[in-house]
Amino acid sequence: MGTKVAKLSLFPLTAEVNEKGHLVVSGCDTVELAVEFGTPLYVFDEFSLRSKCREFKTEFGQRYSETTLIYASKAFLNRALAVIFNEEGLGLDVVSAGELATARSVDFPLDMVYFHGNNKSTEEIRLALKHHVGRIVVDNFDELDRLGEMAEETGHIPDILLRLTPGVDPHTHEHITTGVLGGKFGFPLFSADRAVTEAMSAPSLNLVGLHFHLGSLIFEVQPYEEALEVVLEFAAEMKRKHGFELEELNIGGGFAIQYTMDSPAPPISTYAEAIVSKMVSKCRLLKLAPPMLTIEPGRAIVGQAGIALYRVGVVKDIPGIRCYVSVDGGMADNIRPVLYGAKYEALVANKVLEEEVGLVTIAGRFCESGDILVEDISLPLVSAGDIIAIPDCGAYCLPLQSNYNASLKPAIVGVKEGKARLIRRRETFDDFARCDLL
Ligand code: LLP
Repeated sequence: MGTKVAKLSLFPLTAEVNEKGHLVVSGCDTVELAVEFGTPLYVFDEFSLRSKCREFKTEFGQRYSETTLIYASKAFLNRALAVIFNEEGLGLDVVSAGELATARSVDFPLDMVYFHGNNKSTEEIRLALKHHVGRIVVDNFDELDRLGEMAEETGHIPDILLRLTPGVDPHTHEHITTGVLGGKFGFPLFSADRAVTEAMSAPSLNLVGLHFHLGSLIFEVQPYEEALEVVLEFAAEMKRKHGFELEELNIGGGFAIQYTMDSPAPPISTYAEAIVSKMVSKCRLLKLAPPMLTIEPGRAIVGQAGIALYRVGVVKDIPGIRCYVSVDGGMADNIRPVLYGAKYEALVANKVLEEEVGLVTIAGRFCESGDILVEDISLPLVSAGDIIAIPDCGAYCLPLQSNYNASLKPAIVGVKEGKARLIRRRETFDDFARCDLL
């Protein structure tokens, strides 16, 4: 198997090559999808999405039956995906009234919704209380006070978790490191004792447990193990001092996926094994009843299910320096390379089986020199009109998209068993102009 085909393993689980040498996902020829729906186009494979949900459920559930699986909406949520997650029995982590509105619009069971955020507005707290969301994850003292007062007014006693900052470095990009002391999220451990006592003594709040989220794209299991040590020791101390019962421990998300051939990620089973065994053994040691375990993956569920398709407009060879292949999207639909130095692989969707001829750089169409999607990638001879397919674009591309250069946000299609359906239409200039008043 050549490198070109090896790269297929990064694409959705249903990816294959047809007799024309075209990339096919779930029975749909991606070159035809690009013609039918236009480019840039995001394609989500339903089979991959559902498989990842089930893999998480099985790998954690068979090791620890008291596991709850919550999908982190920020990785990418729209109505079609919310329906799928509901059918798969997942809950949702939302961080805004907008994500809550998406969930409500498809009648997502709101008792399965966890409301996160480091600066929830009063309106968002009101909505969370009004709709009786499953958990409100409290980030700070201001929120704890405000939530307590507002809950008292409404008469609904919400189940809450306290978000802790365990002070563990997950060894990932600085911008997606969250659990270290000094970060903006959660109660640092040194002030968490007060948070527990205040929450326990608030008559309008029901403190059910603790939460931490270390960061994203974490390739190692040790940070989870370290955080479990610290947080369970804290829970045991709170039990001793205040009679606090840890009923639920939410360990966030952060599980890595493989973006490039040279950066393999551990399988979900490796995370599950390390997390469950550390939690169970530590609880035993501390004489704590093992709590319900909640996990909140985003990227690891949706990342590989999504691909981005672009059409090549220009090939510019600067002899001896660089050959640019310019496509019709870029940083407006995927800012991750610019923001985090994120690396991607790519295939020429209409030339998957052709011999690679040399290194090119895939550039976007936006007015920034930094608008590069993939630097120095080996591809077959590319010409204008070809379709570039980038794998692993399901997570954190669309949610971070912009209208830079007054570009229109791309269409999204869902593919399943040979059929493609539009799950978000391409933005139009009318949509764009609607909010722009004179
Ligand atoms: N739970 C909480 C509280 C979170 O803040 C996050 C992600 C997750 C769960 C899900 O993490 P995941 O399993 O997807 O790693 N835009 C960045 C990633 C930001 C992650 C924000 N929080 C990126 O493109 O890499």
